[in-house]
Amino acid sequence: MSVHSLLGYALTVPDIEPGRRFYEDFGLSGTARGNALALRCGDDTRDTVTLEAGKGRRLRHVTFGASAASLQALKKNIESRGGKLLDPPSSEPGAAIAVRDPDNNLIVVRETARANILDRRKAVIATEAAKYTRAGGNRGCPPRNMTVKPWRLGHVLFFTPDVDRQIAFYSDVLGMKLSDRSGPVIAFLRVAGGSDHHVLAFAKSDRPGFHHASFEVGGIDHVGFGAASLLGKGYRNGWGFGRHVIGSNYFHYIRDPWGSLAEYFFDIDYIADDASWQAKDWPLEDSLYLWGPNVPEDFVQNFDAER
Ligand SMILES: [Fe+2]
Repeated sequence: MSVHSLLGYALTVPDIEPGRRFYEDFGLSGTARGNALALRCGDDTRDTVTLEAGKGRRLRHVTFGASAASLQALKKNIESRGGKLLDPPSSEPGAAIAVRDPDNNLIVVRETARANILDRRKAVIATEAAKYTRAGGNRGCPPRNMTVKPWRLGHVLFFTPDVDRQIAFYSDVLGMKLSDRSGPVIAFLRVAGGSDHHVLAFAKSDRPGFHHASFEVGGIDHVGFGAASLLGKGYRNGWGFGRHVIGSNYFHYIRDPWGSLAEYFFDIDYIADDASWQAKDWPLEDSLYLWGPNVPEDFVQNFDAER
């Protein structure tokens, strides 16, 4: 009994247009939905990022998928902990569950089939590799007009004043698993039953906030080229190019128009067998990276206002 996937998130932003430009330059495709903007990655069959105009930038909700069989058990979990089931937001019609976590983040759960990430990942990597193959005497360097389009949302990281309280809620109520942590400072959670190393992470702050969303691309070149293209368009560097220790993925983070981050990632660890995985408490120096540029001072700064 667990949510089985991260489906998307919605943000309130002061002005949608800079957000549309940023996410489209990042490689997503936008469509107007009334007053809101919906954005999808290449393989998405539903809206993944939603931007709605409002006062200030803040998380509106985060959406998970679950099987029909899990939904009743999830509702029971929520109610047995004194949680209140709410009406789903208008941008998530037909969602089965809406509930607030201990930080007052709105969690939405909807019924979906579990996607086979490993098969899709393999296909994307093969397709991208075939475009830039040396076979037939081609040069290995991709062309300057290479396009970078993330094929899926991988994970989100939120700030929280209490990392342990969030681990307890997402494990006990939504059935997620702790993959790794670094003391009380940062923790990485996955969905049960086969998952990327993390689909949700929490970093300690004095208040809740949105740190980053991370999107998967089809190769290392895509991480580097995507980030270089955004920097060339005048966006501010977040941090990268580098490789994480926890999760093992290559990364490059770019600042979005509101101070939070969007990450390109490639080659993240996949945990197929929950029983054999040992969550580890890592020293703080390992919580950020194996190699890459020095960590910018503002990398873990919470730009969200007090709610
Ligand atoms: Fe990340």
